[in-house]
Amino acid sequence: MNNYPDFCYIRSSDYPAGAILPRTQVRISPDDRGFYFADGVYEAVRTYAGKLFRMTEHLQRFQRSLQAVRINLPDRHNLKQICTELLQRNDLKENDAFFYIQATRGTAPRNLLFPAPPTLPTLYVSVTPITPPVREQSTGIRVITVPDIRWQRCDIKSIGLLASVLARQSAADAGAEEALFVRNGLITEGTHTNLFGVKDGIILTHPLNNHILPGVTRIVLLELCQRLKLPVQETAISADSVYELDELFVTSTTWEVVPVIAVNNRPIGNGQPGPLTRHLQAKFREHCLATIEH
Ligand code: PDD
Repeated sequence: MNNYPDFCYIRSSDYPAGAILPRTQVRISPDDRGFYFADGVYEAVRTYAGKLFRMTEHLQRFQRSLQAVRINLPDRHNLKQICTELLQRNDLKENDAFFYIQATRGTAPRNLLFPAPPTLPTLYVSVTPITPPVREQSTGIRVITVPDIRWQRCDIKSIGLLASVLARQSAADAGAEEALFVRNGLITEGTHTNLFGVKDGIILTHPLNNHILPGVTRIVLLELCQRLKLPVQETAISADSVYELDELFVTSTTWEVVPVIAVNNRPIGNGQPGPLTRHLQAKFREHCLATIEH
């Protein structure tokens, strides 16, 4: 979008009152602990035609991440209002848009210990228009598997994403669109997606624990399965048995439901998006719009 103004929200020790500025004018200190240590957490939320999707669930997850890493964000209750204002200022009130929300422990001289007394955490929010992933959703994607070298708290939406960066790049280098992490022989999730399989009509997905992010799209998909009376088992898929599945798909805020047609160059099912995946894709948007907050 050419004339999109790209206003962002920043509140930090440099902007203690909070400011809405064009992205190019936002300054972050090199002493921000996000820069030194990836000492922060984030959220990724979207809108459908200007309406925030499942903001309550996203804010709950954000608060859970903040609490888990002991960041006390004073303005966490203003986030919905900040997002609404950014939609207005960026003229995105009718669009599908993506919010990136990041909080770090703030700015202080480099030292692993928490700053004492505590510094003001940094809060940054940006919004960009979404281009729908039409190709991925229609033809499906190819994925690879990689060892899950991430830490043991993948349930926290940490900004420390180096393992995911390397895995996603390995996928691209191999001509694939996503990498699936394997821990102890089991597939946990993708670099930025949750994973679902279908075997003999049963939908399988990894149970919630410290090895996966509790995806909001995962919740919505499970709700949808319940509404459609489709059987679900929250059981991890093993890296060895993935090739025997009838269907495979991944979910995320921006991708919604994307079919997986090959893993490590071996086809899943007949190498085409499966019928149940197609059905869930078709019903997903309907369910989203029916359950959107006003
Ligand atoms: N990623 N697993 C991981 C590791 C993720 O980073 C994400 C989301 C998901 C899916 O969660 P949700 O359905 O709430 O989007 C699963 C976001 C989109 C991102 O980092 O951009």
